[in-house]
Parts: sequence; structure tokens; C-alpha cells
Amino acid sequence: MRVLSVVGARPQFVKLAPIDKALCAADIDHVIVHTGQHYDPLLSDVFFDELGITPPDVHLGVGSGTHGKQTGAMMQALDDVLLDYSPDWVLVYGDTNSTLAAAINAAKLRIPLAHLEAGLRSFNREMPEEHNRILTDHASDLLLVPTEAARDQLLREGIPEHRIVVTGDVMADVLFATRQRVMNDPSPFLESLGLADRTYSVATIHRPVNTDDPERLRLIIESLQKVDHPVVLLAHPRLLVKCAEAGIDLAGGNLIPHASLGYPELVSAVMKSRGVVTDSGGLQKEAFLLRVPATTVREETEWTETVDLGWNQLVDAGPALIEAASRTRPADTSAAPYGDGHAAQKVAQALLAHR
Ligand code: UD1
Repeated sequence: MRVLSVVGARPQFVKLAPIDKALCAADIDHVIVHTGQHYDPLLSDVFFDELGITPPDVHLGVGSGTHGKQTGAMMQALDDVLLDYSPDWVLVYGDTNSTLAAAINAAKLRIPLAHLEAGLRSFNREMPEEHNRILTDHASDLLLVPTEAARDQLLREGIPEHRIVVTGDVMADVLFATRQRVMNDPSPFLESLGLADRTYSVATIHRPVNTDDPERLRLIIESLQKVDHPVVLLAHPRLLVKCAEAGIDLAGGNLIPHASLGYPELVSAVMKSRGVVTDSGGLQKEAFLLRVPATTVREETEWTETVDLGWNQLVDAGPALIEAASRTRPADTSAAPYGDGHAAQKVAQALLAHR
């Protein structure tokens, strides 16, 4: 059996790592197509290198652009690739423009389409990811869902039950394996910043809703600067561009700007932190899995379990952010809503079984 994965953005490379290993272990021929949506080495190559992922078989080199131009360029290039490789499954990941592009190509070519991380919803139609998820889910033949809540959502939307498989979350697989790897290593990141364990927070801000309105962006940065302990801001390229355009200086108060980190470094930095402030879906969940409190600068989250279990607070910029980022750890929990770290094997089995 041949599975063709299409990936393009940072979180997809992280999810690809355990899938690549599980498919190879199951003797499945795995073809990897990189759309080129993320092209900076720190957003792309570093993940393939550090997570030991097989290098892409095909690189489309699409790069950045408006949503329509970027998605269209991917679609234009993908038809030939899918016809050349003629896979049994096209596997798409998450909710980026790369996900949607490949989903449309596969559906139009009538190549069976599987969606990993299906069934998530923010119910916020302002988010490009929300359109990408819904359209991809409804084009898919097999919906691989991380949680029971995601399964229930798809059933409510009329997706037939036989097309849905609860696998758990592959991000838990890669996180647990990486935590084991970095557990006893020294942290060059902390040493270079002169920070001790549990004295700092890690922050990331990259969503258009937070970066594209200069006044809102300014308020978020000022709030991070006012948190009562050091906050290391791992700056995404979009954030740097938007701050430069708006004349916002990231450094100030307790805020320490820093380049993005590779995955093992990120896991180590979060594991040793006292909190996370973010608008990233993945990081909210990584914080929960590492039992670090998260403060999410958004009105809603797709990962509602993290909030229900008391490890994640949704806040607006301003005093609420400052207060939440300084809170202490909640009581421990043994809840495991994202599975046991073996989701990728279940994905491989589901692809074989539904062939
Ligand atoms: C994309 C995904 C988002 C995901 C995020 C992870 C969509 C709609 N959004 O958002 O769901 O959470 O990836 O990081 O697919 N840029 C660079 N170098 C790069 C890539 C981008 O400098 O390698 C800059 C460009 O100015 C670009 C901007 O970042 O215009 C945004 O990149 P884009 O891929 O459009 O979306 P992200 O914000 O990264």
C-alpha cells in the first residue's frame, strides 16, 4: 500500500514525524510531499533534521502569498504529483492551506483522502483554519480524530460513523518521545538567557487575529512586557513583520524576544518553564501534556479539554492576560484526553483496514 502525505507548515512536520515512523514500521510505502508553505530553515528543515523524518520526495516550493494564490499554486502543482505516484491514500494534516489544497486535489481525482486531526472546531469563521478544517473534513473518506469530542462533532455534522476512527493525538506521540530524549540534557537555550528552571514563561503569538490589527498587537506586546516574571517570546516571522510595520519594539519590561526554536529545544524550554502564553493550538496542548499552565490569547480554543481540566485559560489582551500569566499551577490531573502516545500506529492500522 502507498500513502502520500502532503505537508507544508511547521506543525505538520511535527505530526509527520511519528506518522512516517509508523507507516514505515507497517511496511507501507510512504511518499512525502512538501508544499513549501513554510520555507525558512527554522520553520521547516530543522524539523526534518531533528525529528529524523525522511526528506520529502517532492518539494513544490510554493512559498508565501494570499490565501487564494498560495492554495491555488499548490493545487496547480499537486495534480501531476498525485497522478505520478497514484497512491492508495492521500493523507493530509491539520488545518493549513496545504491541507485544503491537497484535499481538493485528492477529492477531484477520486483518490481516497484521509484527514489527520479531523473534527476540531473553533466555531470562529474569522479564522482561515476553520474553513480549511470544515472543507477538508467534508471532502475526506477517512476521518482520523484525536478525541471523542471531535468524533461527536463530525457525527453532528452528518459524517457517517464508519468513516470516523478515534486514534488519539499524534502530537502526544512525538511529544512523549521527545520529552524522554531531552529530559536529562542541559538546555543551551536557558543557559544563553541566564534563566533558571520554573522562573520564566514561553510565549508565541502568530495568528492574524492577534497580529494584523496594530493596536491589538501593541496591547498584547505591552501586556507580555508587564507580566511579573521573564517571558521569552519565540517570534514567528509574521509577528516580526507586523511589529516592524507598526513600529512596535518587542524588547521591554520583562519581555525577551528570541528566534523560533526547533522541536526538542521547544519541548525542553516548555517543560522547564512556569507557564506558556500563546495563540497556537499545538502549544496549548503541549503545555497541558507537559503539565505547564497555558494562557491562550484567543476567545475560543479547539482543544477544550485543556480548559475543562483547568490547565488553560482563555484571555483577552490587557490585565486579564497579565494576571493569568502570573497564576500558579493547578492541581495535578491524570486525565489523558489525547491518548497514550501510540496514535500513529492506530493511524497506520486504520489506513490499512479502510483501504
Ligand atoms: C500557517 C497556518 C497556521 C499555522 C501556522 C504555523 C494557514 C492558513 N495558516 O500560518 O494554521 O498555525 O502556519 O506556523 O495555513 N513566512 C516566512 N517564512 C516562512 C513562512 C512564512 O517569513 O517560512 C512569513 C511570510 O511573511 C508569510 C507569513 O509568514 O506571508 C505567513 O505565513 P503563512 O504560511 O501564510 O501562514 P502562517 O501565519 O505561518
